[in-house]
Amino acid sequence: MEPIIVISILIGILVLMSLLLVAAESAFGSTGEKVLTVNDSLQIPINESDTALNILSKNQIYIPSACGGKATCGLCKVKVTDGAFDLKPTEEPFIGPKDAEAGVRLSCQTRVAQDTKIEIPQSLFGAKEYDVELAALEDLTYDIKLVRFKMVNPKTLDFHPGQYAQFIIPGVEAVRAYSFAGDAKVKDHVEFLVRLVNKGVATTYIHEVMQPGDKMKITGPYGDFYLREESDRDIVCIAGGSGKAPIRSILYRLRDLNMPRKVRYFFGAKTKKDLYYTEEFDDLQKEFPNFEYIPALSEPLPEDNWQGETGLITDVLDRMTGDLTGSEAYLCGSPGMIHACIKVLNKHELPREHTYYDSFA
Ligand SMILES: Cc1cc2nc3c(=O)[nH]c(=O)nc-3n(C[C@H](O)[C@H](O)[C@H](O)COP(=O)(O)OP(=O)(O)OC[C@H]3O[C@@H](n4cnc5c(N)ncnc54)[C@H](O)[C@@H]3O)c2cc1C
Ligand code: FES
Repeated sequence: MEPIIVISILIGILVLMSLLLVAAESAFGSTGEKVLTVNDSLQIPINESDTALNILSKNQIYIPSACGGKATCGLCKVKVTDGAFDLKPTEEPFIGPKDAEAGVRLSCQTRVAQDTKIEIPQSLFGAKEYDVELAALEDLTYDIKLVRFKMVNPKTLDFHPGQYAQFIIPGVEAVRAYSFAGDAKVKDHVEFLVRLVNKGVATTYIHEVMQPGDKMKITGPYGDFYLREESDRDIVCIAGGSGKAPIRSILYRLRDLNMPRKVRYFFGAKTKKDLYYTEEFDDLQKEFPNFEYIPALSEPLPEDNWQGETGLITDVLDRMTGDLTGSEAYLCGSPGMIHACIKVLNKHELPREHTYYDSFA
């Protein structure tokens, strides 16, 4: 073959490769240095295209991300003020047209492939990563365990009663949210209540693999579901299953404040074997006449000899509740339970702006 033809073919191949590189760069992100600017103050140089969520966490800014970046929790929202791409189909269930127009995006779905500016709430700068060590694992029911961690580094953690942390499950690096269940005054240990989910990645690890002394990383605290201490409204708490966790923490705080407000706590379970911490809440009831604990069984067994309330927690709430105009509510549990209870609370005139909940989706 003539040398000129060989050279032409080589040049052709080089041009084609360059074109492919440019196309790949615009499709998958640049490898050149870009900048992610956070709240107009922090500038993070980016050499490899990655999601905003990952870039932020590598730079010790921890955004709530209970599904670990799978676009199923909708918690990782940020506002992209410059460099936003169109909303992805995975984001649509969580972001309405108005927010989308304003630049709200899921940070786990936002790939930073060009200079980008985002805004995040200042409060998120308070979330940190912590090394913890399993101090105790205790059976509370057949499927719920108390998990007690010792804080290793940093040695203390502050949270508002009601908030949650995220566990980074070793080995699989799955991220899952768990509400603080203990006394917020105790800063060198933290407690959680974890319910086993069939074939669940995190809960199987926690229930069946973890041993006292094992290490893990957690991040937090997160969430705007926490006790409003400045309020003097009566309180209605509603929980099911492991939803008892944040309510327990809230009740510890109210106990320390001498139960200054009237508190009614509805706890829904199927049978007697799903009840736990009954004595703890009965004792609290004896100590503070202002506090009432109302466990209810939806499917009590004959051998349960159950003398307490029966029925779905929504029905029990409905029949035991009067006008709630002057109250506020804290709800925690499955999305279905929360949705149904909010309807009942609305029926009893509890203002929507005084209804706080964490859905364990
Ligand atoms: C803000 C927040 C706070 C939370 N706090 C707690 C807490 O204090 N205690 C606690 O136990 N959990 C809590 N959760 C739920 C927790 O984060 C996990 O989703 C749950 O433990 C399941 O994790 P997994 O990895 O074992 O299951 P996965 O591997 O994620 O799921 C396995 C399968 O089970 C289904 N599944 C997932 N979760 C449930 C569920 N709850 N019930 C039925 N099926 C399910 C999934 O759809 C999937 O098919 C909280 C969630 C949120 C968002
Ligand atoms: S991390 Fe759950 S939706 Fe983004």
